[in-house]
Amino acid sequence: VHDSEEISALIESLGYIKTDVLEEADFIILNTCAIRENAHDKVFGFLGRCKHLKKEKKDIIIGLCGCMAQEESVVNEIREKHPYIDIVFGTHNMNDLPKMLTNYYGKQDIEVYSKEGDVIEFGNLYKRDSNISAWVNIMYGCDKFCTYCIVPYTRGKQRSRKSEDIIKEVKELKEAGYKEITLLGQNVNAYGKDLDDVSFARLLELVSDTGIPRIRFVTSHPWDFTDEMIEVIKNNPNIMPYIHLPLQSGSDRILKLMGRRYTKEKYLELFNKLKKALPYSSITTDIIVGFPGETEEDFNDTLDVVNECKFDSAFTFIFSPRIGTPAAKMKDDVSLETKNERLQKLNELINKYSKEANDRYLNKTVPVLIEGYS
Ligand code: 5AD
Ligand code: SF4
Repeated sequence: VHDSEEISALIESLGYIKTDVLEEADFIILNTCAIRENAHDKVFGFLGRCKHLKKEKKDIIIGLCGCMAQEESVVNEIREKHPYIDIVFGTHNMNDLPKMLTNYYGKQDIEVYSKEGDVIEFGNLYKRDSNISAWVNIMYGCDKFCTYCIVPYTRGKQRSRKSEDIIKEVKELKEAGYKEITLLGQNVNAYGKDLDDVSFARLLELVSDTGIPRIRFVTSHPWDFTDEMIEVIKNNPNIMPYIHLPLQSGSDRILKLMGRRYTKEKYLELFNKLKKALPYSSITTDIIVGFPGETEEDFNDTLDVVNECKFDSAFTFIFSPRIGTPAAKMKDDVSLETKNERLQKLNELINKYSKEANDRYLNKTVPVLIEGYS
């Protein structure tokens, strides 16, 4: 979503005006996700509609960018089967968009870099989707290489932004009247490790010192979550007591196959430490079911953790094999039917605890941030 805001800003800098009406557009750009296979199907479904439009409106330019553009198989597919897609660029050369759009002369132009470059400072002088709540990148890429995940391949190695640039952006947002910011990174806890800069705990403190009313951050990997971070969250009321802490699986055997670097016991230890220090915190998670070879026993271990943690909410997924990742080559003898059943069972449990978490607010008066009409 934040990348899309930046892409909109680049296009608007050329004089284009945003529209939500497909038929009105002169340029259509799809910013894509590659995390699971169903995103791929959705994108090509939507592109079918665009292709149709092109028959009536010849000059329309169609572009594709984001993580799917970083997949070699997708680029080959576009070259061979989708000549009507005019412009393709990847996650490492988003800034080439204005140049590609201005120079476009009717011939398919695919420019995707396989390697990440240095962090480019985008500046903060553009209109975001909200004037209340803003996304702020603190780092790009990921070095964790969980065996199921395509992110390290599509987003490159971890590159942190300089803390002074982040603080400058947050101060500008505060000046502009923003009430909330969300610090973004694939694994924010590892912030700064690739630079000679401050730790994430210290960055949080510096961000808190700007006085912006509400601070959030996503996503935390349980591996790098330090006691110092817990202290900082506890001591700074403008850091929201909300932590997204992906579990992925509750089975030690599966966690090892996933390359997650923690055990069920270690996860629970961290979870309980967080709840003890921050009793009013909301903790949410991500869970994958049907990882290759997941047995009923492995799945029950996941349910055990859910029953113990009673997450406020969770994003749950069926494992989706991604070309080029180690897990895609693992032997998988679990049927799709079983995977679906497990997902349903897990969702029922998650929903039960979500309702309990919401019920905690019954008859309570709390401050809320109004973001807009719904
Ligand atoms: N299949 C299913 N879910 C995945 N995720 C990442 N890769 C895959 C995959 N190949 C999930 C993880 C991650 C979230 C963003 O997406 O749970 O935390
Ligand atoms: Fe993917 Fe997150 Fe693992 Fe990085 S830490 S490889 S983004 S699941």
